[in-house]
Amino acid sequence: MCDHCGCREFGPIAELTADHESILEMAWLVSEAADRTDPDRLATRDRLLVLLDEHVVKEETGLYPQLMATGDLSTDTNDRLEEEHRVVRVALVDGTFDRRDYFALAAHIEEEEMELFSGAMFAFDDEEWDEMDAAHHAACHHHPDHDHHHRDAAPAPTH
Ligand SMILES: [Fe+2]
Ligand SMILES: [Fe+2]
Repeated sequence: MCDHCGCREFGPIAELTADHESILEMAWLVSEAADRTDPDRLATRDRLLVLLDEHVVKEETGLYPQLMATGDLSTDTNDRLEEEHRVVRVALVDGTFDRRDYFALAAHIEEEEMELFSGAMFAFDDEEWDEMDAAHHAACHHHPDHDHHHRDAAPAPTH
């Protein structure tokens, strides 16, 4: 996590970080449920898919292209990260999402937080932050039934 470097203070990064916390929490519940047809598991899975789809749009139209534009994300890494998004989604939709998928997702998120977020903090100026903000705003309104924004959320406490 980026508590030491202060990137939680940056609005769009704080928003993605808050998404990650919710995503990991729900993904764990889905992965550890013994019964794949359990209604609670399915309900959590469905809520997770809504959040994940929105989060992926934010990253693939905001953070990733802005990092590529500043030369801080290679096309290969971008393509791999986008593929990882698709793999997670398929496992959730198919109902096969298990602990191995959870740990793969956690590794994806850790890479974003440790490498991409800090890259953005060093590389981005107002223009890139504004582009990220606009991408997040568009992603939030992409899902009319899920229009809450994390942008107003207080930063998580540091430990
Ligand atoms: Fe991602
Ligand atoms: Fe992410």
